[in-house]
Amino acid sequence: MIEIENLRKVYDNKYEALKSINLNINKSELVCLLGPSGCGKTTILNIVAGLLDPTSGDIRFDGKSIIGMHPKDRDIGLVFQNYALYPHMSVIDNIMFPLVVGSNKLPKEEARKRAREYMKITKIEALEDKKPGSMSGGQQQRVAITRALVQNPKILLLDEPLSNLDARLRLQIREEIRSLVKRINITTIFVTHDQEEALSISDRIVLMDQGIVQQFDRPQNLYLEPANLFVAKFMGNPIINTFEMTRQGSMLVSPDFTLDLEKFDKERFKGSIEHDKLIVGIRPEYFTLTHNPIFKTKVTVKELIGKDCILNFSINGQSAKIIVDTHANIEEGDDLSIGVEYDSIYLFTPEGERVY
Ligand SMILES: Nc1ncnc2c1ncn2[C@@H]1O[C@H](COP(=O)(O)OP(=O)(O)OP(=O)(O)O)[C@@H](O)[C@H]1O
Ligand SMILES: [Mg+2]
Repeated sequence: MIEIENLRKVYDNKYEALKSINLNINKSELVCLLGPSGCGKTTILNIVAGLLDPTSGDIRFDGKSIIGMHPKDRDIGLVFQNYALYPHMSVIDNIMFPLVVGSNKLPKEEARKRAREYMKITKIEALEDKKPGSMSGGQQQRVAITRALVQNPKILLLDEPLSNLDARLRLQIREEIRSLVKRINITTIFVTHDQEEALSISDRIVLMDQGIVQQFDRPQNLYLEPANLFVAKFMGNPIINTFEMTRQGSMLVSPDFTLDLEKFDKERFKGSIEHDKLIVGIRPEYFTLTHNPIFKTKVTVKELIGKDCILNFSINGQSAKIIVDTHANIEEGDDLSIGVEYDSIYLFTPEGERVY
């Protein structure tokens, strides 16, 4: 229902923030725009909202171009990081506000009734008479979301709505947002730079870097089948281990360990490998503890997460990580015999293109 075609944005200072973006977002889909700071997430959102004009390209809602259309006519609800509530107004007045201003305003009593209906949906009835200043960040963000929804928009746009909240509240409110938008079936674009947030909340994720879409896919595909080295490194915490290795015959060689190309799954090669230098990516959970190791090392630092722990070790003169069950009872300084699941290795060219 939202089609974005060859969208470019060059700011006045000649900076090209978006370099030909193409996206199709389905009706009722929850899509995250994900990527590092400055990659162009807010720029896309503001262009969709009509707060910013694109340099070129088209955006269509239900097949109709909205370029040049006034933001008010786009049928969009907007939520920002800093709740942007009116401090002198009560919660219900804040929520009613969009209904009682402008050309098709509702009578006050009707607006109040509608506001209350939505406050029930977002479960903030009890806050009705409070002023923003006397509420927590999480409560204020619930109010801001309710205000965005009260006009019953076709599309909900949220720009880092959780980044002012503490860690535990972020988890709770992101769940609430997902269940809310699924319940009311609204098409939603959610901006975040937090890969874990995007993985947990989205139907699909747009991962961007420097104004270019790196991969637009379902969350598990970004994690399990990254399109390139940037995606592999961005998704996952702790970050994927990467090693520069050199191909010698059927072996991949590095100072401290080798990998046997014969043991790789032939089906997973994306064409023949033409490079002699490759970047090998191994996620910390796909190293194994084994009696038949590819290398031996020692634990330098142990980080306990809970059920699992991260063991840091040194290999090829660099630091790397393995995740193991906490019950393994391994301590700093202990010996490690490390193997690998060959099916779960990734290979990239030095330019970051995925070849396995
Ligand atoms: N008005 C402007 N003039 C010039 N450059 C701008 C302007 N607004 C943004 N930019 C640049 O465009 C790029 C994309 O900015 P944008 O705000 O879309 O990034 P973002 O992905 O939302 O980042 P963040 O995660 O930090 O919010 C950045 O490099 C930014 O510096
Ligand atoms: Mg931004």
